[in-house]
Amino acid sequence: MATSNAASGRERETTWLIVGASRGIGYEFVEQILARGDRVVATVRRNTASFWSGQRDRCQVLICDVANEKSIDDFAGSLAAIPNLEIDHAIINAGVLKYPNRATELSFADFAYHLNTNTIGPIICAQRLLKFGIPIGSITFMSSDSGSAQCFREMEDGFAAYAASKAALNQALRHMAAELKRKGDKTVILALHPGEVTTDMASIEVGWEVEGQMSPQESIAGCIKVIESKDLEDSGTFWTWENKPYPW
Ligand SMILES: NC(=O)c1ccc[n+]([C@@H]2O[C@H](COP(=O)([O-])OP(=O)(O)OC[C@H]3O[C@@H](n4cnc5c(N)ncnc54)[C@H](OP(=O)(O)O)[C@@H]3O)[C@@H](O)[C@H]2O)c1
Repeated sequence: MATSNAASGRERETTWLIVGASRGIGYEFVEQILARGDRVVATVRRNTASFWSGQRDRCQVLICDVANEKSIDDFAGSLAAIPNLEIDHAIINAGVLKYPNRATELSFADFAYHLNTNTIGPIICAQRLLKFGIPIGSITFMSSDSGSAQCFREMEDGFAAYAASKAALNQALRHMAAELKRKGDKTVILALHPGEVTTDMASIEVGWEVEGQMSPQESIAGCIKVIESKDLEDSGTFWTWENKPYPW
């Protein structure tokens, strides 16, 4: 797939950045992007050697731990050093769920763990990419229906810290979108709920019926279409993998 570059008049491959690509949803993003013929920069937390080693002409693998500020800075610096890199779509996918995380039982450390990885890390990561001046068309944050304040999921016993971390992510990314608009920055900021996807994160025994579970393949095919359908007018909005707006 080629993207026309108005400034230089040349055609280049559509380029994606996936932060948190070692497993689950992030891994499937990389697989589908490579299958389309696009270029991807993928991040893992350690040992880049084992990932997509046969496809290094179109898949560069870097290290990034979103819970570690120095790791984020080192990663943003490495990305900025790639000659002529222009990212069409960045997806900040990294996230954790330590289950259960009830508000009535939660430790300080476990609450901080969710906030560090699901809220602070993704926002700081996006901020540093923007600060390093890397051209980015859109940044999609992997949110969750659990983080919706308007559509509170009362039956989700054991999800207090996770839900709070995604609700905080939603608010922070809305502010990021509004700040960028005020500055005239054209980067599109989106929140995305991928659906109930059968990954390691979803392999927990919960006390309610999980409806509509789907494979990563099905979810990500939808997510890619959602991301590609959005433009500047959509910045600061929240979508499902089916391209339906989701209440904040
Ligand atoms: N699965 C679902 O049904 C569902 C629903 C709604 C939202 N989501 C969201 O979708 C995203 C992906 O979830 P998933 O289901 O694919 O989960 P997963 O299978 O548990 O994978 C989580 C990914 O995040 C990475 N990660 C965790 N902590 C990180 C850190 N500190 N720095 C960098 N990467 C880190 C993991 O890397 P390691 O291999 O190094 O641990 C792994 O690649 C998450 O943000 C999750 O909240 C998932």
